[in-house]
Amino acid sequence: MLQQKTAAYQAIERLRRSGRFPSGEERTERLKEEADRFIAEMRRERTAAARELGGIFHLQEFFDGTLRTDERELMDSPDLPEDRKLRMARALERQSGMLQLNRRFVALLSPLIRELARGSGRETRVLELAAGAGGLSLALGRETRDRGLPCRVTGTDIVAAYVEASSREAEREGLEVRFRTLDACRAEEIESEPADLVLVAQSLHHFSPGELALMVRGAREAGARAFVGIDGYRSPLVAAGVPLVAALQGIAEFALDGLTSARKFYSEAELDAVIEIATGERNHLVLNRWPLTLVLARFDGVRAEETEIPLA
Ligand SMILES: C[S@@+](CC[C@H](N)C(=O)[O-])C[C@H]1O[C@@H](n2cnc3c(N)ncnc32)[C@H](O)[C@@H]1O
Repeated sequence: MLQQKTAAYQAIERLRRSGRFPSGEERTERLKEEADRFIAEMRRERTAAARELGGIFHLQEFFDGTLRTDERELMDSPDLPEDRKLRMARALERQSGMLQLNRRFVALLSPLIRELARGSGRETRVLELAAGAGGLSLALGRETRDRGLPCRVTGTDIVAAYVEASSREAEREGLEVRFRTLDACRAEEIESEPADLVLVAQSLHHFSPGELALMVRGAREAGARAFVGIDGYRSPLVAAGVPLVAALQGIAEFALDGLTSARKFYSEAELDAVIEIATGERNHLVLNRWPLTLVLARFDGVRAEETEIPLA
């Protein structure tokens, strides 16, 4: 319902035809502002298109506009002490465990990790951005240890307390997973960490369209062969479900962040446009893995459609 595909793709087409779709040649310094500008313009055009389409389209657009927010999650606030951030990141980790999400992410990613390893003849170097308390990086490390998944993982986040806690956990479990601080909004920091596959899980909505474009561009410039982003699917059911499930953790600020996040999830059409703006081509997939959206971009000449992403 909140995907608004008909109106969204009409809006993108109008902007493309009138020369307002960024060329893809945007220099990295301009990429952020161009992608931010385009998505803001696309949302305005989409509202106009929905109004013209009328009826249910108009109603859905009204609902989407009422729900959407640009508010920052509390856990990203520079004023929140790191111990309270860590408490929230751990709550998210428990929630992911309860929903078996990291297991699911590993299942979704394993064929691609194996394919990249076959192609290079060595383990796939995986760089996770915005890794929070490190649940996915650690799960990949366990898969490597227990089932021989051919990868070497570096988990990163901007919050030092997460990096320290994740490093301790990796050491405690004897996993060969490295953690370090890294600002995912700085393409040059991404470029400082050689990787074959760059991952962002459950965090796309924490970044503006321009920041996402920079991440994808940074991954490509760093020599990665693929980028995968996974996040909540934008829909009324997920928007209602995320804060309710978050409330089970009994931490008010975490439940509030659940609500903010659910209001911010990107639609598939928005992610589709952001990746095209970042790469200047259409070699990517935007897939529905309910209640998730998965985006994959390939930079190594392999057609994105040829990548095995299970229906996990
Ligand atoms: C919703 S949490 C997701 C954490 C983790 N991926 C998970 O699934 O549990 C969003 C994460 O984005 C991180 N983050 C926000 N801005 C960032 C930035 N500029 N660079 C790196 N990480 C950032 C936050 O610190 C937080 O850990």
